[in-house]
Amino acid sequence: MAVESRVSAERIQDQKPRDQFKSQLGFIFAAAGSAVGLGNIWRFPYMTGTNGGGAFVLLYLICVLFVGASLLLVEFAIGRNGKTNAIESYAKIRKGAKWIGFLGFFSAFIFLSYYSVVSGWTVYYSIQSFFGLNGLAPDQIGNFFGAFISDPVKPLMYHGIFMALTVGIIIKGVSQGIEKSTKIMMPMLFVLLIILVIRALTLPGAWEGIKWYLTPDLSKITGGVWIAALGQVFFSMSVGMSGMVTYASYLGKHENLPKTSIIVALMDTSVALLAGLIIFPAVFSFGLEPGAGPGLVFITLPAVFAQMPLGSIFSFMFFVLLAIACLTSSISILEMPVSYLIETRKMARTKAALLVGAIAYVMGIAVSFSFGIWSDFTLFGKGVFDLFDYFGSNISLPLGGLAAAILVGWFWGEKDAVAEISNNGEIKGTIVKAWFPVVKYVVPVTVVLIFLSNLGILKI
Ligand code: ALA
Repeated sequence: MAVESRVSAERIQDQKPRDQFKSQLGFIFAAAGSAVGLGNIWRFPYMTGTNGGGAFVLLYLICVLFVGASLLLVEFAIGRNGKTNAIESYAKIRKGAKWIGFLGFFSAFIFLSYYSVVSGWTVYYSIQSFFGLNGLAPDQIGNFFGAFISDPVKPLMYHGIFMALTVGIIIKGVSQGIEKSTKIMMPMLFVLLIILVIRALTLPGAWEGIKWYLTPDLSKITGGVWIAALGQVFFSMSVGMSGMVTYASYLGKHENLPKTSIIVALMDTSVALLAGLIIFPAVFSFGLEPGAGPGLVFITLPAVFAQMPLGSIFSFMFFVLLAIACLTSSISILEMPVSYLIETRKMARTKAALLVGAIAYVMGIAVSFSFGIWSDFTLFGKGVFDLFDYFGSNISLPLGGLAAAILVGWFWGEKDAVAEISNNGEIKGTIVKAWFPVVKYVVPVTVVLIFLSNLGILKI
């Protein structure tokens, strides 16, 4: 997010080796900015829609509680202890653990490529809000969306604009202005979500959607739904990719890590739950299909806006704020490999950001084409978008998170790890006490069980 890049800018200006976040609030905004993004507003509703509704929501909340929140704190602890890029931070705990960082490095490319494509859609929708998007009936919006994403050129332009913004922020560093504006934008996004929830809940037939969304039908739970919920937690909370390790490496020794991790987890989860409270009442009210997949938000929301006075203005504000939320996430993804290239490979910041951005852009072309001219091309039975999404969320991030938990729980040792999160014993309380056993036992066991259940080896 903004603060991160400000830190980078200061680093260039001052020629100091490393800088630090100046305040707890700055860090909270940075970490929350990294977490809140497409994962909450776009991916959570459509994953809920394609994975059985309330049952998915229940498993999601279980995974946030038992895996996501403690892994946030794991990444914060590793980063702050390391005070260097993620790869070296892992190595500071154990030399052989560098590979966890390299896995994150690799995941960052996969992630950034498709994240930028979908974020580009939000940029396009911001502009289209003023050009008739809201005059279309829900079924016409579906066609409009389908025509846009399958176009061979247009989405690439918006993917390019979004990637250029991400790279630009990381190169230049970020002015105070962006940091300040993010502090306004995030609450604005929240307020807008609440307005939309109220509108969606008052649509005719909204109750059916709420029931579908919030009543878990336990017969829908399968290994596939478990892994989808786990993957969603990793995606949404930005864990398993070492982005949070990178952020925390810019932290001072006095910040309260346990408190920050709880605030970020709560903010992230509440934005996701609110997004569902908008989408599903609207889906049922307009007779749309909850399992519509990645287009769900892009089809349902314009239909909701169309039912509101000043709909195009709300629509514009919403998609701009969403694009900004995407930007505060994408810069955290880009910073992870860039910090390694600068600090360990001695590359200039500009060159590193351009290089990573260019590679991710090219990879994103394949992602975008998979909605159109390459829609018939599959690998392991999946198109490029689905493959990147599945591999990133359901394999590489959980694997990264599992490895980080094992590193902390079994190799770092309780004394040092707890000293890090408690600021050498200054911070006390249940979270500090419960965290280490959760990381050592609960996280690895849960992640492994979910992997096994997804492979069909175990039924949970
Ligand atoms: N955590 C970020 C999101 O949810 C990547 O969009």
